[in-house]
Order: sequence, then C-alpha cells, then structure tokens
Amino acid sequence: MTMLQDDFRAAMGRLAAGVAVLSTRVGGHDHAMTASSVCSVSLEPPLLLACVEVAARFHDAVVESGLLGVSLLGHPQRPHAEWLATPGRPMVGEFATVPTHRAPSGVVLLDESLATLDCQTWAVYPAGDHSIVVGEVLAVTLADDPDPALVYYRNRFGRIA
Ligand SMILES: Cc1cc2nc3c(=O)[nH]c(=O)nc-3n(C[C@H](O)[C@H](O)[C@H](O)COP(=O)(O)O)c2cc1C
Repeated sequence: MTMLQDDFRAAMGRLAAGVAVLSTRVGGHDHAMTASSVCSVSLEPPLLLACVEVAARFHDAVVESGLLGVSLLGHPQRPHAEWLATPGRPMVGEFATVPTHRAPSGVVLLDESLATLDCQTWAVYPAGDHSIVVGEVLAVTLADDPDPALVYYRNRFGRIA
C-alpha cells in the first residue's frame, strides 16, 4: 500500500458512516456482508448504491442474482456486523447466530434493524477494485421505535442516538 493509499483510507475513516448488512440469495443459498458504503441515489425512481469489493464472495452472488437486501443496523446489532465482516467465515450456517426474516423478494433481512430495503439490481458499474451496485428499492420497512444507530468511525464502531 502506498502512502497516498494509507492517507486515503485514514481520511475516509474520518467520514463517520452508518453500518448496513447487504444480503442476496442465489442458487437457494443466502449470503450477506457488512457494508458502510450504502448511499441514497435517486427518489424517482428510488435508487440506492453500495460499493462491493470485487474480491468479496458477495460480489459475484449479488451480480448473478440481481437481488439486494439492505438492513440498516442499530447499535445492539454490532455483533452481527462484526460477524458478517469476518473474512472467510463459513457460508453454511452463516445466519445461525443472526436472527433474520425474508423480504418479499426472498432475500434475508436482519430482525430488529432500524430500517430494511428490498431491492433489485438496477445497474452495476465497475470502479477499480470495487463495483458500484445500484439497487432499485421495491419495498421498505421502518422500525417503530428505532435503536441508536451503529456507526463506524476511524476503524471503530460507535453509536449515535
Ligand atoms: C464497518 C465495515 C464496513 C464495511 N464496508 C464494506 C463495503 O462498503 N464494501 C465492501 O466491499 N466491504 C466492506 N466491508 C468488508 C466486508 O464486510 C468483508 O470483506 C466481508 O468479509 C466480505 O464478505 P464475503 O467475502 O463473504 O462476501 C466492511 C467491513 C466493515 C467492518
């Protein structure tokens, strides 16, 4: 890693970000990963984006399936964020400790999330070692009484009310 790349990572680490879990379903298997790159894009039509590393197992799964679930996490869900960011975790039994339910599209969404969005892939743009995955939002759920948000700042998890 060059000095510029180090500084770039450090600089972007100072942009506090919400934490989400992305999910998809392909060949009858569910897969999910933690992501802080989720961002809203458009209201008409409703679009969001997430940047997914090409080397992540999630990448090919979401591109193949065209389905994208987004669960926006509260602070009590931090253990799930840590687990679903663990490199090389076994994909069989990935959700054994993570309570989930199914969206209308069939993807899993995390229980107790602040909000969930059920999307279909609208476009995938190559962007260096990541792809920008744009999802069209088909359905949304909002928690009635949301927990404090889980945030990521300077390589650490935190909370904001
Ligand atoms: C707080 C946090 C945010 C992350 N955000 C992203 C992200 O936006 N995009 C990404 O590709 N990986 C992100 N990661 C890393 C992935 O979660 C991690 O590489 C994961 O193991 C990939 O899973 P997979 O290879 O099983 O698909 C993040 C990790 C953490 C802890």
